[in-house]
Amino acid sequence: MERKQKPSAAPWVPETRNLNRLREASKNCEGCGLYQNATRTVFGEGGRNARVILVGEQPGDEEDIQGRPFVGPAGKLLNRALEAAAVDRSELYVTNAVKHFKFEPRGKRRIHAKPNVAEISACRPWLEAEVAAVKPQLIVAMGSTAARSVMGRETRVMTERGHFLPHDRAESALITVHPSALLRIPEHDRREAEWGLFVRDLGMINEWLKKHPIG
Ligand code: URA
Ligand code: SF4
Repeated sequence: MERKQKPSAAPWVPETRNLNRLREASKNCEGCGLYQNATRTVFGEGGRNARVILVGEQPGDEEDIQGRPFVGPAGKLLNRALEAAAVDRSELYVTNAVKHFKFEPRGKRRIHAKPNVAEISACRPWLEAEVAAVKPQLIVAMGSTAARSVMGRETRVMTERGHFLPHDRAESALITVHPSALLRIPEHDRREAEWGLFVRDLGMINEWLKKHPIG
C-alpha cells in the first residue's frame, strides 16, 4: 500500500545553526501548500544569543507584506504588553510556529485563517532549527498553535498557561494566550482582566531572566 508523504519543511531546512543561512533557505520553502498564496516567508527576528524565544501563530496580513514577524496590529498589542511587563523586545528572538500567512480572500481583504495540524507540523522543522541556532533558555508560546508546535502535543492553553514547564530543547517553556485573542473579547471588563493575565505571564520572562543569570 502506498503511503502519502506528510507535508514537511524538512527537505528545505539546511543542516546549519547559522540563522542567516536558515533565513535565506526558508525563502524557498514549499514544505506545505501555504507558500502558494502568501507573498513571502516570514522568518524569525532577533539576536542569535537571545535567551528567550517568543513564538506566535503565523504572520498576518501586514507581516506578509513587510516580511517581519509581529509588525501589524497583533504586534502593536504585543509591544504594549511587553512594555507593561517591562520586557525588552530587543532581548527576545521573536518568531512564529508557521512561517507563511494563511488567509481567505474576502473582496479586497485577506482574512486570517487558522493553520491546521498538518501545516503546523510541516513548518515545525523551521522552529526547531531556530531553537537549535539560538539555544534559548526559555521558549514562550503564545496561543494554541504556538503551544502545539513548541510542546509537540496538543495543549490546553487556559490551564497550562503561566507555569514554567519542562522542555527538552530549553530549560523551560511557558505558555500564554495569543495577543490577537484579546482583541476578540467584546466585554470591556473581561478584556481588561485577560490583558492583566497576559501581562502577568509575560512578566514571568523577567522573573526567569533574573533567577537565571548568564554563565
Ligand atoms: N500574529 C502572529 O501570531 N504572528 C505575527 O507575526 C503576527 C500576528
Ligand atoms: Fe514551508 Fe512553513 Fe511555509 Fe509551509 S508554512 S511552505 S512548511 S515555511
